Order: sequence, then C-alpha cells, then structure tokens
Amino acid sequence: MQENKAIPNRLNLFQRIRYSIFPGTLQRPAYRERYRNFFNSLVLHFRPRSVEERTLRFTLTWGLGGMAVVLVCMLFGTGLMLKFVYQPVPDRAYESIIHLQNNVFFGQLIRNIHHWSGYMLLVIVFLHFLRVFFTGAFYPPRQFNWIIGLAMFLAVLTSNITGYLLPWDQLAFWAITICTGMLEYIPGIGQWLQGLVRGGGDIGPATLSIFFAIHTAVIPACLLILMPFHFWRVRKAGGLVIPRTPDEDEGSEDEKVPTIPNLILREIVVAVVLIALIMAISVLFNAPLGAKANPGLSPNPTKAPWYFAGIQELLLHFHPLFALFVIPVFILIALISIPYVNYQSETAGVWFASHRGRRMAAVAALIAIIVTPIGIIADEFIIDFAAWLPNIPGEISNGLIPFVLMLTATILFYRVMKKKFSSNNNEALQSVFVLLVGAFIILTITGIWFRGQEMALIWPWEIVN
Ligand code: HEM
Ligand code: HEM
Repeated sequence: MQENKAIPNRLNLFQRIRYSIFPGTLQRPAYRERYRNFFNSLVLHFRPRSVEERTLRFTLTWGLGGMAVVLVCMLFGTGLMLKFVYQPVPDRAYESIIHLQNNVFFGQLIRNIHHWSGYMLLVIVFLHFLRVFFTGAFYPPRQFNWIIGLAMFLAVLTSNITGYLLPWDQLAFWAITICTGMLEYIPGIGQWLQGLVRGGGDIGPATLSIFFAIHTAVIPACLLILMPFHFWRVRKAGGLVIPRTPDEDEGSEDEKVPTIPNLILREIVVAVVLIALIMAISVLFNAPLGAKANPGLSPNPTKAPWYFAGIQELLLHFHPLFALFVIPVFILIALISIPYVNYQSETAGVWFASHRGRRMAAVAALIAIIVTPIGIIADEFIIDFAAWLPNIPGEISNGLIPFVLMLTATILFYRVMKKKFSSNNNEALQSVFVLLVGAFIILTITGIWFRGQEMALIWPWEIVN
C-alpha cells in the first residue's frame, strides 16, 4: 500500500493522469510482464512451445519459408490499398495506374512494393522448393506438405500472371496474349479453356475483369486456405527436418529450446532485413509501365512474362503440343511423384543426400550448363527435323521425335550416373532433378536476355546499342 502511494511522484504527466483514472499496480516490471504474457500467449497460439535446437540453424531453411510468408503479407496489404484506386475496365485501368502514380500519396511506392514483392515471392518460393528438395524434406511424414507446397507454387504463379495484365499497358496486353494463346494447344479442351480464361475470343474487358477477380479474390482465398494447412502439416510432422551431416545417424539426440525468444527473434530479424530490402528496391526502382495497351500494334519481339521465358524458349525448339502440353504435364507428374517414389535410403535432413550425392549434383549442374546452350545453338542453326522429314506431320517430326530423344537421353543419364558413381536411386534421381532444373534455368535466361527481334538469338548488349 505504502509503495503504491509513492509511485505517482515518480511518473510523468501522462502516467500520472492514467494513474488517476486506473489506480493499481503501476510498477514498470508488472507492465512489462503483462505485455510479455500477452505477446507470448498470442504467439503460442500459432507456434509450438519449443523447437529442436538444430532446426534453428540458418543453413537449414535460409529463412526462405518465413520470407515467403512476409512477402505474401506485404502483397495482401499493398494489394488491398491498390484496390482503392485501381479500376478493372480497359478504358480506366491504365489511367487509374497513372493517377495512382502521380496523384495518390505514396501511390507509386505502394505500386512498387506490390510489384517487386510479387516477383521476389516467385524467386523465394522457387528457392524454398529447392531447399526442401535438397534437404530431403519430402519423405514421410512430410509427403503431403510437398503437394500442398506445389499447389501454393501454382497459386503464386497464377497470381503473378493475372496481376501482370492489370496495368493494361502494351507489355501486359501482349504478354498475356502470348500466355493465353498457349492454352490453345491443350488437346481437346484447349480452345474452350482459352475462351473461358479470356471471357471470349480476344483479350478485352471480360478478360480484365476475370483476371481481376482471380487476382484479388480467388487466389488470395486459396492462399488463405493453403497456408495454414501447410504450417499445420509442419507442426504435425513434429517440426522441420533435423539437419545432420552425411555421416550422422538419423536418430541422434537433440535438445529442445523454447520458441520464444529463440525462433521468434530469428524470424523477426529475417523479416526486418527482407522488408528493408524491398523498401530500398521500391524506392530506387519504379515498377515498369509502358504505353497504354494497343490491340492493333504488337511489339517485336512479343515476350511472355520473364517467369514463362523458359517455356517460350522451349516453344522455339518443340512443336507447341509438346512445348506447352506434353512436357509441362510430364514435369508436373514427376514433381507430384517425388515424395511417393520408393527410395533406397532415407536422407531427410542431409543436404544433397550424401557426400556422393553432392559430387553427382555438381557434375549434373555442370553438364546442364554446358549441354543446354549447345543444344539451343545446334537446334537453331543445324538440327531441323521438320525440314529433314517433310512428309511427316509437325507433331511427330518436331514434337514426338525430339521429345523421345530427350527422354532417352535423360534415362541414359540416370543409368550412367548410377553406374559410374555406384549410387543408390536417391542420389541418381537427385542428379536428374539437378540436370532438369539447370536446363530450365538456362532456357529461362536465354529467353529473357538472348532473344531479340523475331526471337532470333542475340547478345544482350545488341539490345542496348
Ligand atoms: C507461398 C508459398 C510457400 C510458403 C509461404 C511456404 C512456407 C513455409 C514455411 C514458413 C515453412 C517452415 C520454414 C521453412 O522451411 O523455411 C515451410 C516448410 C515446408 N515447405 Fe513451404 N512454403 C511455400 C511453398 C512451398 C513449396 C513450393 C514447397 C514444395 C513443393 C513447399 C514444401 C514445404 C515442406 C515439405 C516444408 C517442411 C520442411 C521441413 O520439414 O524441413 N513449400 N514452408
Ligand atoms: C500472392 C499474392 C500476389 C501476387 C504475387 C501479386 C502480384 C501482382 C503483380 C505482379 C501485379 C502487377 C504489378 C505491376 O506491374 O504493376 C499486381 C497488380 C495488382 N495487384 Fe497483386 N499480387 C498479389 C496479391 C494481391 C492481392 C491480395 C490484391 C488485392 C486484394 C492485389 C491487388 C492488385 C491490384 C489492384 C493490382 C493492379 C495495380 C498495379 O498493377 O499496380 N494483389 N499484383
């Protein structure tokens, strides 16, 4: 009692007024304690009380899953703000972006943050997908979380594609014309699907409102369902995979530490650094905006968005049926099957499975880096199945034949690697994965920087000059 009476003399004016209204224990430690308890119980509604100490190592996750969460939150926040100004009709869309940039307080900055966060999310999710694969975090009990992850990857991709059209500039209009044009090659339902997505034959008002609805309602709803499901699966699997060196036993003992502050503090640091980076990029670089969309004037070259550059590049080498349907479907099935293959060993938590796995992955990456450009150049200047076999339909000469050749080469690669390194099927399949991811990255780089007018091969500096 005595002590409470003495308190007001030590308080500042605001605290004294507050004390006059709510007298009670005002000692600072009690306050802190109360806030801390509130914060802790809030956090522990979502997070486990304790985590395995070794899963805190930065080199296990590189903070990538957490970064993806932060970026999604930023996209939701800035996306909601953009909705107040953006008008999803062709007559007004472009003008509303100009108005946003010139007349709305911090409008340009909000647009920049949304734009760069969207692109960065795609890169971060791709890296997270690689880290999950290479640390073997897809074995039981994490199999289904891999599938949920793939669904989220598709959602993020769709979000980026649908967002791309919204500014309604030349870049957006023609890139989406290319992307939706690709749907035509899906056998049986292609035309129908294209009409459904475009809301008619051509890109127009209906397309814009469909893309806007998908972008601002359907995909956010999907992510809001899938994300908690993803995190719940991580909890149900008993947390993240426990990292270990190739020589360490799976069952080796580990210690648990409290989530607060050990994990939370690390997550806060990653989030703050990421937000600072996005802010810096958004202050320095404006999101691009070309001239208003002109359906009568296509730019040359007409390029798909950068994340589709790999597929657009594939289109230059294979018949569209194979580049846009058979190969993507094959890859999707392969990705879905990854957690369900019968593996010869369980390497969860070991980067690249083993010492031998690391060597094999390095060799596969090197082969991808050397062979893919050679393949692209050879196909551009030497190989021409369509001309060599003029009496055979394009689907076969330019589709089935090169596809079967590639498939045979991949199977051969698997067998040779397995034999040469006397490896198990985990390590050999991993090297095939590295080969294909490496080839895909090279195709994407070629499509973005090494293709000019008429999609001819060029050196990037030819564009600048
Ligand atoms: C929007 C997309 C995504 C978000 C927000 C997200 C978020 C997260 C977070 C926060 C974690 C825990 C921390 C970490 O591993 O960094 C995690 C783990 C995991 N994620 Fe994702 N993820 C996404 C996409 C993916 C994709 C594309 C895949 C794979 C196809 C995937 C598969 C997994 C798996 C298997 C785990 C458990 C890893 C382990 O136990 O070590 N996720 N994810
Ligand atoms: C995973 C989540 C999201 C991603 C990856 C994403 C991505 C994008 C991209 C790449 C653009 C084109 C930006 C540009 O170049 O101008 C865009 C535009 C837009 N987004 Fe999102 N977005 C997401 C979520 C949202 C949400 C949740 C909303 C609103 C509820 C939203 C509203 C908008 C609006 C109104 C535009 C048009 C304004 C503009 O283009 O600057 N977005 N989005």
